[in-house]
Amino acid sequence: MFYNMDCIEGARKYLQDNSVDLIITDPPYGIEGDNLHKHYNRNENHVIEGYVEVPAREYPTFSQNWIQEAERVLKPGGSIYIVSGYTNLIHILNALHKTSLKEINHIIWKYNFGVYTKNKYISSHYHILFYVKPGKKHTFNTYSRFSDFEKDDEGGSLNYQDREDVWIINREYKPGKVKNKNELPLQLLLRMIQYSSNEGDLVCDFFLGSFSTAKAAIGLNRKATGFEVSKTAFDYQQEKMKEIIPGSLLNTLRTPPENRLKNRGKAIGEEEKERIKKSYKKLREEGLTKKAAIEELTAATGRGYWSLLKTIDGTTNKSSTPKESDQIQLQI
Ligand SMILES: C[S@@+](CC[C@H](N)C(=O)[O-])C[C@H]1O[C@@H](n2cnc3c(N)ncnc32)[C@H](O)[C@@H]1O
Repeated sequence: MFYNMDCIEGARKYLQDNSVDLIITDPPYGIEGDNLHKHYNRNENHVIEGYVEVPAREYPTFSQNWIQEAERVLKPGGSIYIVSGYTNLIHILNALHKTSLKEINHIIWKYNFGVYTKNKYISSHYHILFYVKPGKKHTFNTYSRFSDFEKDDEGGSLNYQDREDVWIINREYKPGKVKNKNELPLQLLLRMIQYSSNEGDLVCDFFLGSFSTAKAAIGLNRKATGFEVSKTAFDYQQEKMKEIIPGSLLNTLRTPPENRLKNRGKAIGEEEKERIKKSYKKLREEGLTKKAAIEELTAATGRGYWSLLKTIDGTTNKSSTPKESDQIQLQI
């Protein structure tokens, strides 16, 4: 359900405590918002009128009020991503600081079409503040987009690269199409929704604008809700939402192959620890270096390099002649 109203009033009226799994939102910037589109969209006939700005002097209180509501409606373990420029970042950070929400990442989104300036650097980034509500483990689908072993042409891990906290994602250039002047790119939204929610979860956007968050969420078979105070934008986009088919984006996603390290993160029992230590010792006696022996064990055990290193630590310096009981096959 979407509401054509102020998000603070709307959240108080329509959203229950602890009811939302994920909030992705891009509040008004508290700057000369109505001039922004002149830079981003060359033909202003294609920009939807009705972007509602918040006066700069009201920004601190406004931020506190809506962020307090966001904290209230999030489930324990629920996540929030707030997109912010640098001008009013301090007010968003101060407001977050007054809540129980915990910082997980401060992401930098680097985009193209930065506003041209002559005597200073061209600003081409936004901040994305990723916080969670304490009380339960937060959803983070680490391998939803890339498996633990997928590599690029130079041997770099694709999973690592996808989870770095600097995201280079271009704004979508839609010549001739009607748009909201600050529409977030689909690729940016997919990344946040895939990592931080599951199918069926409720995703909320306090500042819907072009409903880009809601469209991506429903396309990924999540539920969506949110608020937009501008009647023009709301009416236009509410109509467009009828075209969005639940789950229609799912088959556009890549399906990563199954992880090699299937047991990564699971606790290691005492028996398995002993087996790992013995296998490691045997591999070393066969002449493998420490690194090569552990790498061989990662494949055999489905466990990560560092947890194996921790397990075998202490056995590495024991250079005793192997007893018969140690002459086991690598069975892990
Ligand atoms: C930066 S835009 C959001 C853009 C959106 N993420 C998108 O991809 O299209 C901020 C939106 O918040 C709306 N807005 C401003 N004040 C609001 C309020 N108090 N409650 C709800 N919406 C508000 C503006 O009209 C504008 O559409």
